[in-house]
Parts: sequence; C-alpha cells; structure tokens
Amino acid sequence: MELNAVKTSYARWAPVYDKTFGAITNVGRRTAVDYINEQGAEKVLEVGVGTGLALPNYRSDLRVTGIDFSEDMLAKARAKAKTLDLNHVQDLRQMDARNLDFPDALFDVVAAMHIISVVPEPERVMAEMVRVCKPGGRLVITNHFARETGLLARIERLTAPFANLLGWHSDFEITTVLKQPELKVIEKKSLPPMGMMTFLVLQKSE
Ligand SMILES: C[S@@+](CC[C@H](N)C(=O)[O-])C[C@H]1O[C@@H](n2cnc3c(N)ncnc32)[C@H](O)[C@@H]1O
Repeated sequence: MELNAVKTSYARWAPVYDKTFGAITNVGRRTAVDYINEQGAEKVLEVGVGTGLALPNYRSDLRVTGIDFSEDMLAKARAKAKTLDLNHVQDLRQMDARNLDFPDALFDVVAAMHIISVVPEPERVMAEMVRVCKPGGRLVITNHFARETGLLARIERLTAPFANLLGWHSDFEITTVLKQPELKVIEKKSLPPMGMMTFLVLQKSE
C-alpha cells in the first residue's frame, strides 16, 4: 500500500476496527501475546499497534512500546492504555515502520500483527524490525499469507488490486518475510478462522 492510502484507509477503519476486522482477528493477537508472555523478555516493540487491541493482554511486568503510522488508530490505542490503566505500556508513538526511530538491538521481542501485508515496502520494514531486535531475540508475526490453490486463493487474487481501498494486500506471499539472512524460523502454524492467519516466530542470529 502507499503511505497516503494507509492514512486515509485507517482513518476510515479506526472508529469501527475493534468490532469488525479487529474482532475476527483476536485469535492471532492472543496467540502472539501469549507466546511473548512466556518468553523471558523485558522490552517489547509492537509495530503497527493499531487501536491497541493486544495491549491489555501483555504481562504487566513487560515494557511495551507501540508505534503506528495512523494517528486515528493511535488515538484509540492511547485511550485504551489510559482508560485501562495499562502501566506496562511505556510509549505509543506515531512512526513509519520503514524508519524506526530506535537504536539497534533495543528490543527483546518485536511483534507485528496483521501489519506486514499492509505496509509499503514490507522487506524494508522486516529489515528495520531485525535491526532493532537484540541478537538472539524474536520477531513474532501474525498475518494472512496468500494461498496457492482453491477458491480462497482465487478470491485473494481477484481482490488484490483493491489493496489501497481494503487496507491490506490479500495475496501477500510468505516468502517476503523470510528473506532476511539473519532470521531462522522457530515456529509456524495456521490459525482460525479457517486457517486464514499464520502465526510465525523468527529468531535473529546471535
Ligand atoms: C490491520 S491493522 C493491524 C493493527 C493491529 N496490529 C491489530 O492486530 O489489530 C494495520 C495497521 O498497520 C498500520 N500501518 C500501516 N503502514 C504502516 C507504516 N508504514 N508504519 C507504521 N504503521 C503502519 C496501520 O495504520 C494499521 O493501524
């Protein structure tokens, strides 16, 4: 997607996100946060934090930073953190995931839930996520990746030209996130509904 389209598309999504796309993707966020909570991690970066639906579920002793390009989505996340008194949420900042304003190797875990098929230049975002992750740290990703065969694969290919309108790429290839030489796949599994989402854990080399 183009960055301008991200802004306009997610300004439209923000008021209804939690009860629509956000509601049907809860399993992905829950799986990712449960996994992160089990790690001996301290500092977590959530890239594309959106309306902050995952924020209440992190362990209260973690230090969680969230970034998102959309001010409209971030406003919802900030409201949640305040209303629910989420003290583990350290910072919620407006930022382009292609240029993360953090030093190298700052975070133990970098999470990206339902975002990697949304951002412009996903390979560049992956490189940034690797850069800010500590050696031996983990990238935790949930996303929809393109299917190769069947009716759903055909639907994905048909809707692909409408990415800027929809707010994501429906035919996004998993190989795009597996290109970084410093990463190895630790875990990969399909998630409901209908195996549409994939949970992926990648470890940065030491
Ligand atoms: C489908 S939402 C997912 C939000 C959240 N992670 C969740 O699971 O509910 C995608 C998010 O990616 C954000 N996004 C898209 N491009 C971005 C970029 N270049 N930098 C930061 N955030 C971006 C959008 O603003 C939107 O909030």
